[in-house]
Amino acid sequence: MNVSGVKSLLNKSSFTKSDLIYLLSLTGDAKTALFEKAAEVKEQYVGRKVYFRGLIELSNICRKNCLYCGIRSGNSKVSRYNLDDEEVVETAKFAWQSKYASLAIQTGELNSNDFIERINNLLDKINKATNNELGITLSLGEQTEETYQEWFDKGAIRYLLRIESSNKDLYHKIHPNNLLHDYDTRLNCLKSLQRIGYQVGSGVMIGLPFQTLEHLAEDLLWMQEFDIDMVGMGPYVEHPDTPLFEYSNTLLPLQERLDLSLKMYALLRILMKDINIAAPTALQAIDPLGREKAIKVGANVIMPNITPGIYRNNYKLYENKPCVDDAADDCKSCLEARIQLTGDEIGFGEQGNSKHYYKKIR
Ligand code: 5AD
Ligand code: SF4
Ligand code: FES
Repeated sequence: MNVSGVKSLLNKSSFTKSDLIYLLSLTGDAKTALFEKAAEVKEQYVGRKVYFRGLIELSNICRKNCLYCGIRSGNSKVSRYNLDDEEVVETAKFAWQSKYASLAIQTGELNSNDFIERINNLLDKINKATNNELGITLSLGEQTEETYQEWFDKGAIRYLLRIESSNKDLYHKIHPNNLLHDYDTRLNCLKSLQRIGYQVGSGVMIGLPFQTLEHLAEDLLWMQEFDIDMVGMGPYVEHPDTPLFEYSNTLLPLQERLDLSLKMYALLRILMKDINIAAPTALQAIDPLGREKAIKVGANVIMPNITPGIYRNNYKLYENKPCVDDAADDCKSCLEARIQLTGDEIGFGEQGNSKHYYKKIR
């Protein structure tokens, strides 16, 4: 197909799996046409604005053992930490005072009553300290519907739980084979979150061992079919202290994983025009300008790391994690300069909730 053929394909109102496989393999001018189309759609449907979610990595203690993740419970090389509530509240205040308007709390997965209660208390404390003005995203793994409901009632409005891969076989290849790592459980959690009324985010890793373009095309269609409000997806970056590391020699080179990720953002923007798409930090582990490139092809959310500096180095899901030696203030000025380079504006003081979500509930 020539470039004008690709351009008319991109104007279709729905895409088949084989369309998407074809589009994921574009190179040269045809790939540029894809990126330009995604930029157009972004400008038209969500505007050229980037919203911030200050990211707090609450703890790296995790009960799970995902085969790709550097902080899996089986990795005894990690020194485990847990922020205390005062540190979290101070960090939340920093986000609020910096006009980030949104906060994302992420942690290894725990589900004890103490943990559930701790989050309830923290939500109260954060809301009190920030005049209820922060839009709070939780990313705290699989929980019961009752727990999700409690946190929602305490004021959390968004929840991010990646499906990792929408293909059940691939999901089970990258997770231990036990009930703690079950595809259907993950899917049911996502359904609970939707029922409760969260803005629901999901996403996948791109460039995993055993993953094909067909899997990624299915992932795009899955996200559309599940009708997610937001997405967090990014390149898989191997970590030496994990079981999947043994397949490193089968992976695409890092630059190609980045390139494939950019095509995934662009295609998802074209498929789901008004959702929020995050440019994850894992992009920057590959290319210093990785996140800026994602913003150019459809992403509209960035999550500046505001975890207190002394802990950042211990929350390493993958290698080459950026900003581990930086303080929250450094990330702030760094990001402002970076986003200016893309030509977009930062939505300071705006929560930047998913337009897609509001359209659905009307
Ligand atoms: N490379 C890229 N992303 C990873 N994650 C975990 N380990 C890795 C890795 N090695 C992602 C998963 C998880 C999120 C918190 O981080 O998608 O959902
Ligand atoms: Fe735990 Fe999440 Fe890492 Fe899995 S990906 S081991 S659940 S922190
Ligand atoms: Fe953290 Fe640039 S974004 S230092």
